[in-house]
Amino acid sequence: MTARPKFSDHFNLIKNIRSTGTIAPSSPALIKKMLATIDFDSARCIVELGPGNGCITRELLSRIHPDCKLICFELNNEFVEQLRNINDKRLKVVNACASSIRTVLDELQIESVDYVVSSLPLAIMDNAVVTSIVESVRDNLREGGRFLQYQYSLNNYDDVKLAFRESRLRFALRNMPPAFIYDCVK
Ligand SMILES: C[S@@+](CC[C@H](N)C(=O)[O-])C[C@H]1O[C@@H](n2cnc3c(N)ncnc32)[C@H](O)[C@@H]1O
Repeated sequence: MTARPKFSDHFNLIKNIRSTGTIAPSSPALIKKMLATIDFDSARCIVELGPGNGCITRELLSRIHPDCKLICFELNNEFVEQLRNINDKRLKVVNACASSIRTVLDELQIESVDYVVSSLPLAIMDNAVVTSIVESVRDNLREGGRFLQYQYSLNNYDDVKLAFRESRLRFALRNMPPAFIYDCVK
């Protein structure tokens, strides 16, 4: 079940708004819609980008298979510390930029992943960094794997769409602010 956000989570998001791009963690309604197209029975490796306080991470952990790995990339040290307190052997928390997926997968001897779930604030990130992250996501997904990304605008949608075979948009109204979900298939 999704835990209620603490005051310190809001404070950390607001304090670092230039890298978080938000003032509040994702709502349970957004998280539910984000994860709706994941086949939890078959997935054996999921990457999460920008887990923040772990609201999506915890929901993923409550639903993934006992043999599924969850690898999270987070830049903010306070969030990393919080995430490392989650006691689950399937979870690996990496304190590095989302663009370093391949390096970490090589260390873990993982060829490709089934899903990438991202709450990175693409709209406020440098274009070159966004391009390198989106390419890295596509290159490290297995054929048929999915990239799930929420955003508060459609700013990057056309660019993201171009990198994938198939893309759909969904919308989560019950979130602050309401959010688009990009659901892209390799
Ligand atoms: C909008 S918050 C999302 C937090 C949480 N997943 C949620 O949905 O409420 C975005 C997170 O992405 C992290 N972030 C920003 N740029 C990043 C990057 N290049 N690599 C990894 N994490 C990044 C921020 O530190 C922040 O925790």
